[in-house]
Amino acid sequence: MKKFEQSDRLNDLPEQFFAKLSSKVMEKVAAGHDIINLGQGNPDLPTPEHIVSRLQQAAENPVNHKYSPFRGMQYVREAAAAFYKREYGVELDPDSEVALLFGGKAGLVELPQCLCNPGDVVLVPDPGYPDYWSGVSLAEAEMVMMPLLEENQFLPDLTNISEEDAKRAKLMFLNYPNNPTGAIADQAFFDEVIAFAEKYDICVVHDFAYGSIGFDGQRPVSYLQAERSKENGVEIYTLSKTFNMAGWRVGFAVGNPSVIKALNLLQDHLHVSLFGAVQEAAESALTESYESALALSDIYERRRNTMVEAFNEAGWKVSAPKGSFFAWFKVPDGYTSESFSDILLEKAGVVVAPGIGFGESGEGYVRVGLLADEDRIKEAASRLSNLHIF
Ligand SMILES: Cc1ncc(COP(=O)(O)O)c(C=O)c1O
Repeated sequence: MKKFEQSDRLNDLPEQFFAKLSSKVMEKVAAGHDIINLGQGNPDLPTPEHIVSRLQQAAENPVNHKYSPFRGMQYVREAAAAFYKREYGVELDPDSEVALLFGGKAGLVELPQCLCNPGDVVLVPDPGYPDYWSGVSLAEAEMVMMPLLEENQFLPDLTNISEEDAKRAKLMFLNYPNNPTGAIADQAFFDEVIAFAEKYDICVVHDFAYGSIGFDGQRPVSYLQAERSKENGVEIYTLSKTFNMAGWRVGFAVGNPSVIKALNLLQDHLHVSLFGAVQEAAESALTESYESALALSDIYERRRNTMVEAFNEAGWKVSAPKGSFFAWFKVPDGYTSESFSDILLEKAGVVVAPGIGFGESGEGYVRVGLLADEDRIKEAASRLSNLHIF
């Protein structure tokens, strides 16, 4: 068969580190092993019933069988604005300050293509969500990593960014509650970010994917709650985690009108908008009760408590994450993040994600998802204890 060469742009995309891990896991499962998969970020619980039934009804409405308007239905953008007003006290204009997205990932990958020219710098958290790298690569921009270190509560130290990099930077990605570290940010941090962004004319992109998941009574703050945030950036929100809707592919970007305009323009060329029934269901999720989201955060908090206690009892000294549904645990002495993950998979049938897959500063850690029920978490701890390696 004739083989067509891929474009340079595709060849230059970063390697999908976790694809390798996931095929190893699939092999084990196919061979009949009982694998406890704490390595992925796929919510394990179902979408709340009222959202599913709205989709069912909406699927029967012929209006939804047609193309949706390019930028989505007015009601869904109004629902996003109403959600931000209700949950965060933030005012948004549904026409100029909200863009509907096919999930947060789409917006995050599109943004560098919207705002960067080849050679521009994008400031990226390390460790961080690898899809930021994909967008930067497609825009032929250059990544400058911002290490997230434990001694700084996994917040970037902006004073370590060189003057030259700051001057060349067009975008800065941030994400709190954080994947993979489980750290959260406070208002003072966002104030510092905004002062930095203003000085160097950088667009802040705050990825608020885990905005609904905060522990110990701490409600995660939205970037848009900070003063002058809208002047200096956007926030990406997704329904994937808040409402267990990862498979539905719906999210939105909110904030600076010039960025929203650029996103909408690119999206006009890439696709027509989401299935109307998904937009109706999203409206229900955003405007009806928030109880299910709060209850879900409580479930993750109970799982976190169970995990931290059981892993410590098993001999692995770990500390508790403050938000998101991930824990970021140090690997024991003598292991790398990959060699430790391999041992857990091979000898205990427990999957965790090696920290190196999230960037160089992730070495020495593994990411462990809170995406299994408490019995499975206890079972994982008991298998770890039987390894006698701690
Ligand atoms: C940090 C972070 N941002 C964004 C996303 C994208 O979510 P989605 O595309 O489902 O909205 C994820 C998903 O795992 C994530 O972990």
